[in-house]
Amino acid sequence: MADKNIKLSVQNLSVSFRTTQGFVRAVRDISFDLYQGETLAVVGESGSGKSVTSRALMGILEKNSVTDSGKVIYENEDILKIREEDFHKLRGNKIGMIFQDPLSSLNPIMRIGKQVTEGMIVNGKHLKNRKKELSHKERRRYLNLVDKLKNTTTEFKLEKKRLKEEKEQEQISILQTKHAETIKSLAEDIKLAKQAYKEAKQKAKAQVDQEWKAEKEKYAKKIADVKSKLSSASQDEKKVYQNEISDLKEQLRRYKQVTKKEAQERAIEVMAEVGIPEPVKRLRQYPFQFSGGMRQRIVIAIALTANPDLLICDEPTTALDVTIQAQILELIKRLKEERDLTVIFITHDLGVVANMADRVAVMYAGKIVEIGKSEEVFYNPKHPYTWALLSSMPDLSSTARLTAIPGTPPNMLFPPKGDAFADRNQYAMKIDFEEQPPYFKVSDTHYAATWLLHENAPKVQMPQIIQDRIDAMKERTQQQSESEVA
Ligand SMILES: Nc1ncnc2c1ncn2[C@@H]1O[C@H](COP(=O)(O)OP(=O)(O)OP(=O)(O)O)[C@@H](O)[C@H]1O
Ligand SMILES: [Mg+2]
Repeated sequence: MADKNIKLSVQNLSVSFRTTQGFVRAVRDISFDLYQGETLAVVGESGSGKSVTSRALMGILEKNSVTDSGKVIYENEDILKIREEDFHKLRGNKIGMIFQDPLSSLNPIMRIGKQVTEGMIVNGKHLKNRKKELSHKERRRYLNLVDKLKNTTTEFKLEKKRLKEEKEQEQISILQTKHAETIKSLAEDIKLAKQAYKEAKQKAKAQVDQEWKAEKEKYAKKIADVKSKLSSASQDEKKVYQNEISDLKEQLRRYKQVTKKEAQERAIEVMAEVGIPEPVKRLRQYPFQFSGGMRQRIVIAIALTANPDLLICDEPTTALDVTIQAQILELIKRLKEERDLTVIFITHDLGVVANMADRVAVMYAGKIVEIGKSEEVFYNPKHPYTWALLSSMPDLSSTARLTAIPGTPPNMLFPPKGDAFADRNQYAMKIDFEEQPPYFKVSDTHYAATWLLHENAPKVQMPQIIQDRIDAMKERTQQQSESEVA
């Protein structure tokens, strides 16, 4: 199992969407940590907020979204506060995402090769990136101060409006004086930070130009050496030397940026890695010439070209039939091991993640209602919604679903006051309709938000039919591991 280094930490994240009917409360105050090297499954019905959560982590929420509160800490930075340009870099490098429908993430009229190499070429401007890296600290400091100025002004206006409504004239003038002072000192800081950033940029440019010049001289010398041998060489030797010269030129270009040739070599490598036969030939083809499963492999290959260390898979197998689904799951599992990835795996089907996830988070109506290690959530589920999910899971031995979950999820324009699942919960108590349940601790690693875990709640057992199913699951897993040992 994963060690306990926290890779990413989501803290009290809430996301709403502005619509003509009002605010849709898509994600409501969720928190979780993602540990280095683990696979965390996020499971829940359609509309429960899984994709919105993942898009928030990627910084690709739609324009009508409002991030009401919360932080997403990744490598000591709140990525909700990172600006578009920096985010692009993060997305391009560290966090990869695979979407549900491979067709919609591929361009139908562009050759596969171009689609696989595109990102590498865009992100591969080594010299330019190096300049940016060298002045990154100063840039962040400057931009943070600019943001702080904006926020201070907004807060000031709100506070002033409130005081005006309350007719607190005296307070307003105190506030104004204080605000003017803050602004003045901030403006001074910003001026200094801007100057520091400008200097850092100049310094970075000079340094990188110097490095580039040295590199060019180094290669010019190497090339001159080979050229000097040319005049006295035989025909065959000449060919070898000429190849050597063009290799040297290519190496120099690669120092500056990812070249088309280099990107293509990498593309062929990753395509082979994700199990696409004849990748050289395949590079020249278009998406329609690929089967659904192969298209999904391409999408995975594209994500891998950036060498991400965190991979978010949003229902990567939902559009595929069962056999292909199993192959893609195997592939993701294998890549995770080989590349030491941390994975968030989103699905509406608990069955899909049984053999995959280290931990499972169950989402309902924009909240995480239960979270724990896989075996805890599968074998000892506590929230009635998790029971319902388990019972609606296709039975691995019969493919029959026991029951569909009765009722429909709540309208997120008007989220319920209490436990959002109360309406559909046969065990609901009065308090379920009135008050949001807190998280009750089941074990150090297992939490569930249901009033049934309150010490005063009546002792309710999960339905026998689900218990039977769990027992059957356990038995199967045991048999499997026994046969693996044998
Ligand atoms: N751009 C948007 N504008 C308005 N509402 C939105 C927008 N995007 C998502 N929503 C709403 O937010 C809620 C959560 O949606 P989300 O896509 O996260 O669900 P999901 O759990 O991924 O479901 P599925 O399994 O169907 O993919 C839904 O009620 C959805 O209608
Ligand atoms: Mg979704």
